[in-house]
Amino acid sequence: MIKIFDDAGKLFKFAAEKFVEIAAESIRARGQFTVALAGGSTPKSLYQLLAGDVFRNEIDWTKGFFFFGDERNVPLDADDSNFKMANESLFKPLETAEKNIFRWRTELETAEEIAADYESRIVDFFASKRGEFSRFDLILLGMGDDGHTASLFPATRALNESSKIAVANAVEKLETTRLTLTFPVLNAARNVMFLVKGADKAAVLKKVLEGAPLPQQLPSQNVKPADGDLFWLVDDTAAALLSR
Ligand code: 6PG
Repeated sequence: MIKIFDDAGKLFKFAAEKFVEIAAESIRARGQFTVALAGGSTPKSLYQLLAGDVFRNEIDWTKGFFFFGDERNVPLDADDSNFKMANESLFKPLETAEKNIFRWRTELETAEEIAADYESRIVDFFASKRGEFSRFDLILLGMGDDGHTASLFPATRALNESSKIAVANAVEKLETTRLTLTFPVLNAARNVMFLVKGADKAAVLKKVLEGAPLPQQLPSQNVKPADGDLFWLVDDTAAALLSR
């Protein structure tokens, strides 16, 4: 489903309402809800909205378990840490218990160790057998102006990962190694929600949604939940080039 909003405020309000709906349904069905949060800057407004007066009492947050779709290999108090952004905009205001938060342990020695540790904690949490993909109730994603999502960047090794859930991914153009969930676990989710806003995303959004399949150049095209719902929530400026 692609929904276009004439302003970002309406986009985030819809996203918050959908988040609440999915959380409530997950709690009803399984007694908990599991969400992998997106990083970057876009989702911050959603997290602040969820932790604000209008939505905070709509969910039994004690039944929510928070993971991260990706992370930078930086200390958790670094300005570019996705954990830090979520901690300040969501966890602290909601007073989320530490046991409900599963962050990438970037204090470990190497990116590979961090990813292996995260994978084993996810597998243990979902008590899924190795090789069987853990199924999140909701995965939030953003998209970069190069078509990447999470830290699955164009022409990087992680795009081809078909067995691991969490990997270290060398991103040459950023001259760094990022940490990311992989397509198999993204596509095993019950719900996946992209949040995309801003004119700088318009050209790539048209290619991703309406252009030829280019899985290596446009990684976001590979997000297709096998048995789940996919939501593209975009604002007018990002949707400007879409044929409507
Ligand atoms: C990250 C994100 C990344 C992000 C896009 C869009 O760690 O940066 O996971 O995939 O969603 O780069 O970022 P903005 O929301 O800042 O445009």
